[in-house]
Amino acid sequence: MSKNKRVLSGMQPSGKPHLGNYLGAMKPHIELQENHECFYFLANYHALTTVRDKDKLAEMTTGLALDYLALGLDPEKTAFFRQSDIPEVTELTWIISTVTPFGLLERAHAWKDSIAKGTKNPTVGLFSYPVLMAADILIYDSELVPVGRDQKQHIEIARDIATTFNHTYGETFIVPEDLIKKEVETILGTDGIHKMSKSYSNTVEIFAPEEDLRKQVMSMVTDPARVRRDDPGNPDVCNVFTLHKIFNSEKNIAEINKNCRNASLGCVDCKKQILESIMEELKAARKKRIELENNLDYIEEVLRRGATRAREVATKTLDRVRNSVGL
Ligand code: ADP
Ligand code: TRP
Repeated sequence: MSKNKRVLSGMQPSGKPHLGNYLGAMKPHIELQENHECFYFLANYHALTTVRDKDKLAEMTTGLALDYLALGLDPEKTAFFRQSDIPEVTELTWIISTVTPFGLLERAHAWKDSIAKGTKNPTVGLFSYPVLMAADILIYDSELVPVGRDQKQHIEIARDIATTFNHTYGETFIVPEDLIKKEVETILGTDGIHKMSKSYSNTVEIFAPEEDLRKQVMSMVTDPARVRRDDPGNPDVCNVFTLHKIFNSEKNIAEINKNCRNASLGCVDCKKQILESIMEELKAARKKRIELENNLDYIEEVLRRGATRAREVATKTLDRVRNSVGL
């Protein structure tokens, strides 16, 4: 059976995966394997913009591979590889950078945010991050790119670059589309204010030891207006309730909604319930990850096979591009 569409996504090995990564990216990635031809990779070239320790980078790269495989990434169905095993992508980055307007990158939110945060000595790599990301997408002839909401602008940049290139040199690239799951496009962090992110230290880490995970969940901010246990709560402004809506059945959600509003359910118990649902959801993956940790040769073998498959596609696209531009 031929699969529907070519799907591609990547994730940086730059920290421990959290519920935002899981719901916004990793879980949808795994679901898409069933009906699509998927390419997923560990974005270690991108991670170099923030990680400056070679042992740590290697460790986090293997760690992220374990995370994905534990969550159900199936290497028989999906090409799973390290970004840096396909160095052709860096050549493509250079070529497309010559049609990328400087102003387009200056307007990128991620760049503007990092300047606003006062990043000392921002690098060229950080500035041109979206060009490498565009090359990742275009080199595999990707049609759909599943990501969380915060990556949408980067995909728009990839679309702009592909369109400009095609206009300049003739049809060479497929213009990709983002795929963002509405209900989980931005998961808020434990502070209830910012998006859950490694850079805000407001995460619930999906593979953390149970006790740490419990502490992270119990620290979640709920309805700020509910000060005392017998105050009625407002689930509409509570991030714990948002998670209940994702993890729980219709019946339980209605029950929690009612019992929060009439103050028969307190925030501590409500959080205990969501913790249970999260643990239940992740139980099999957490167990599988421990098993896989003892089989690192297998991980290497999977990544090597994935790279062989990815490279077949990448070299063909790069030949086409070289031909289009006259190299
Ligand atoms: P972080 O912000 O923690 O560094 P990344 O930028 O590495 O996360 O994101 C990896 C993937 O997870 C991307 O597809 C991103 O859109 C998605 N993602 C990250 N945080 C969230 C969130 N809070 N809600 C939904 N998706 C998210
Ligand atoms: N920038 C993405 C992130 O931080 C990771 C990434 C790199 C990516 N290249 C990509 C995502 C290509 C999708 C497609 O999450």
